[in-house]
Amino acid sequence: MHTISTFEEYQKTYQDSIERPEQFWGDVASHFQWKKTWDSVLEWNFEEPHITWFKGGKLNITENMLDRHLESRGNKLAIIWEPNDPKEKFVRLTYKELYERVCQYANVLKSLGVKKGDRVCIYMPMIPDLAVAVMACARIGAVHSVVFAGFSSHALADRINDAQAKVVITSDGLNRGAKQIPVKRVVDEALLSCESVEKVLVSNRLGWIPAMKKGRDHWLEDELKLVSKECPAEPMDAEDLLFILYTSGSTGKPKGVVHTCGGYMVYTAYTFQNVFQCKESDIFWCSADIGWVTGHSYIIYGPLLNGATTLMFEGVPTYPDPGRFWQVIDKYGVNQFYTAPTAIRALMAHSIDHVLSYSLDSLKVLGTVGEPINEEAWHWYHLHVGKGRCPIVDTWWQTETGGVMISGLGNVSPMKPAHAGYPLPGVQPVLVDQEGKEITENNTEGYLAIKFPWPSILRTTYGDHNRCKLTYFSAYKNLYFTGDGAKRDDNGMYRIIGRVDDVINVSGHRFGTAEIENAINQNKKVVESAVVGYPHSIKGQGIHAYVITKPGIEINDLLREEIIETVVHQIGKIAKPERIQFVEGLPKTRSGKIMRRILRKVAEGDTRSLGDTSTLLDPLVVDDIIKGAESLVVVR
Ligand code: WTA
Repeated sequence: MHTISTFEEYQKTYQDSIERPEQFWGDVASHFQWKKTWDSVLEWNFEEPHITWFKGGKLNITENMLDRHLESRGNKLAIIWEPNDPKEKFVRLTYKELYERVCQYANVLKSLGVKKGDRVCIYMPMIPDLAVAVMACARIGAVHSVVFAGFSSHALADRINDAQAKVVITSDGLNRGAKQIPVKRVVDEALLSCESVEKVLVSNRLGWIPAMKKGRDHWLEDELKLVSKECPAEPMDAEDLLFILYTSGSTGKPKGVVHTCGGYMVYTAYTFQNVFQCKESDIFWCSADIGWVTGHSYIIYGPLLNGATTLMFEGVPTYPDPGRFWQVIDKYGVNQFYTAPTAIRALMAHSIDHVLSYSLDSLKVLGTVGEPINEEAWHWYHLHVGKGRCPIVDTWWQTETGGVMISGLGNVSPMKPAHAGYPLPGVQPVLVDQEGKEITENNTEGYLAIKFPWPSILRTTYGDHNRCKLTYFSAYKNLYFTGDGAKRDDNGMYRIIGRVDDVINVSGHRFGTAEIENAINQNKKVVESAVVGYPHSIKGQGIHAYVITKPGIEINDLLREEIIETVVHQIGKIAKPERIQFVEGLPKTRSGKIMRRILRKVAEGDTRSLGDTSTLLDPLVVDDIIKGAESLVVVR
């Protein structure tokens, strides 16, 4: 596949891709192995929406990740796995070894009764078996739904039920820094309320002996002994489902974003190659968890489709000390490193000696993803990690976009701190005003939308196409709406400001305000709640919850803890509210709508410009809220 190597070439390629999108993507797609070529490159309308790429084409994505490389790269490293504990032995898998493992694993799934189209939920630590399980599903045409192993049993059950998963894949336990977490027990709890699940496949990570339900639970090790290392790849239609990944939106429960085989393959492979500019012998490291889309696209699919060596890390940035990332980079000679701004900010808070102890001279490209990067973090990353010589690619994209949409390309594009930059070839972003009218001039700000499909655009939300339509394609006619606000500078470079809907981005993880409120309201002492995001120095955004309790309930720190515990139980530790403020009432309009704008301002400590409060049912409520916030919020 061709890699863009100069900015002029980018400009020309971009122009071509816009003028002749079908030819452009058809050319890219022709570099892959298809069992049958497509009949048409693209058919689409954003109204229903109905989007098909490479219609009639047949392929298997794992053949393109594994089989295709066996001849020229069979002995090349495909995956390097670094364990949580630096003293434990790492694992290296060549393309040939990975191929065999995936085939064998796929046969295990088959022996458990998994068939093409069945949903398999994967709730696993960051160990090689996780990557293998994902590919094993793809090998036989089962639809994987990976759920981040930090979600609670309750959240896991919701996702299993929504997808009607037949099999769950997990492990005995997992390591996270100094802690060990009993993952299998979480699955057992979840399965108390899941009827669709017939089998559970368990990897042995910690050598524990969890309860195993007879007939349902199986150890992977035992099953592997019974199957062969050969497994033909299931021929898939380009538009057959590859995976579901749940993500939070502004309303209701999380939705299952659906990606399909052909378009996702073409787009993740193309963007990986061009954004990170990997050379054949490079080692690429994306520090995300495979439970999020970044891990799907840039730990597993993108790198392996390109025959690259991808590093998978089980641990956390601060264990055993805050130099861990840099130690791992030196240990393996990592060339491209891709992480989240929240991790950078967390590490910035520690002594700089943790970075300076390592040479980091293998690094060529640095990347960030998941949330806006502030300038201070950008400069720290650039100077101390990149030693001023590595470009930073600030990659803007979403679970729904499947791959990077706006970003620099290695050292090919000009860069500007805190700016994602220019759209990738084939991507047509627009800024629109409140009415959905396109703002064409530069040096402006608006809502970010996309006006033409790219190959890995979401196809639907699982089991509820109308929700997909309402969420993404109804805000503005004939546009995909991202939910983000953005600026465009004089040179046409984009800077993403953040969400403009009721989504809070905590440490790069998305939560809907409604989702957290529903969780809080499960507490029997709570009448009602409203949550908003506020700027947080490390997490990007923190969660501020305003809570009304039932009459007669004593308000104290214990109650605060209890409410936090409710959220942990309903969603997981990752969604813990940073602040709980008990209030007598919430600012509501006469029609009963909570005016979050006011709550946001108060949480930000900016109470001088609350705007018009005259439309409130009870304007006095606001004074109480401001007063109550005094002990929690630093007033600006
Ligand atoms: C935000 C992660 C600023 C944005 C790949 C988006 C970013 C949401 C950036 C998607 C970036 C992601 N700069 N903001 N480089 N990348 N975002 O689905 O608000 O977990 O809508 O996908 O993260 O988060 P998601």
